[in-house]
Amino acid sequence: MKLNNIIQEPVNTDKKTTQSLNKPQKESKLVVLQPIGYPFLCNLVENPKIEIFDKELFELYAREQWLGYTVSEGSFIFDQKLLPDYAFKIIKAHPDDSKISENTSILLMEVEEVREIKRIESSIKMDDVIGQERAKIKCKVIMKYLQDPSHFGEWAPRNVLFYGTPGTGKTMLAKSLSNELKVPLFLIKATSLIGEHVGDGARQIHELFEAASITAPSVVFIDEIDAIGLDRKYQSLRGDVSEVVNALLTEMDGIKQNTGVVTVGATNNPHLLDFAIRSRFEEEIEFTLPDDEERKAILEHYASSMPLIVKFSIDDLVKPTKGLSGRDIKDRILKVALHKAIHEDEEAITWDHVKYALKQIKKNTSEPKGMFA
Ligand SMILES: Nc1ncnc2c1ncn2[C@@H]1O[C@H](COP(=O)(O)OP(=O)(O)OP(=O)(O)O)[C@@H](O)[C@H]1O
Ligand SMILES: [Mg+2]
Repeated sequence: MKLNNIIQEPVNTDKKTTQSLNKPQKESKLVVLQPIGYPFLCNLVENPKIEIFDKELFELYAREQWLGYTVSEGSFIFDQKLLPDYAFKIIKAHPDDSKISENTSILLMEVEEVREIKRIESSIKMDDVIGQERAKIKCKVIMKYLQDPSHFGEWAPRNVLFYGTPGTGKTMLAKSLSNELKVPLFLIKATSLIGEHVGDGARQIHELFEAASITAPSVVFIDEIDAIGLDRKYQSLRGDVSEVVNALLTEMDGIKQNTGVVTVGATNNPHLLDFAIRSRFEEEIEFTLPDDEERKAILEHYASSMPLIVKFSIDDLVKPTKGLSGRDIKDRILKVALHKAIHEDEEAITWDHVKYALKQIKKNTSEPKGMFA
């Protein structure tokens, strides 16, 4: 742990005042903490397990002791009261490098929750996603809305569903949205919501939307939403799923209009979705397999960043890759061909390497339709 990662800035000291004069401090809207433990242990002390039984009370306790502290993501803050020197990691500070005030919301999250509910950092641009024009248009509208939510009034985009074949760019487009928007995007994999304890998943959903509305404008991305949105006839088979479904329904309806939170769901199979959830998506946008032109663009895009010289004709590869997704083209054709060339200590990727990759994919799958047509 680097020492300069540790924040210890009590209120009203001279140091603080000089710092504040030099650099105007923003007020934190939201701080999310993860309990870490003591900096070191001796056999007299053990790391206690922190569990919050009253969130509001914890917030008061936390605000009181850390009022005026500067918080930045990834750094640590130490308890001063009940468990002196017990460390908490700052998982989220919105805005980053801001100061805890009377109005800051402070949440504590368990390790597993922190892993699943996170703000995505991504450098993907929307133009890197080839094709999927309808989805991109919708994302551009969402961007306009998030830049000026009041302009849309009751016509705000709220819930959008991306669906379609695996590997066609659904998650990639959501990540690019976060990058282009420069607003928080909260990602949750729905599969992680069916927890061991009944109530865990529902609580996670509420906390996710709470964090999103505090940091609004923001986007909540629920990947693999079919895992929780399961049709009612399957729900009885999956214990607490219906509780999670109800939590999601409540949040998708939104208690307040125009909160500046947009929910994007993604699934391979919209038919598996609970009807009530499905009907709350104002638009369902299909992600399709790339056509000839799009496959050519995908091949060119990824071939241009390969670490070896490309000595095969991209045009010749357009037809044999018919029926493959963007992910297949990148990982199962280009990557396999590249690795084959590297294994052979070649300096260039040749058509022989590509042929090898095509043969592998043909061997490993009965689909895709139309391949080698
Ligand atoms: N349209 C595309 N343009 C460029 N690259 C793509 C495209 N589609 C897929 N890829 C490549 O494949 C990878 C996987 O795509 P992604 O994870 O977005 O697929 P997905 O639709 O979310 O799949 P799944 O339904 O399995 O979650 C991307 O990171 C990217 O490298
Ligand atoms: Mg995905």
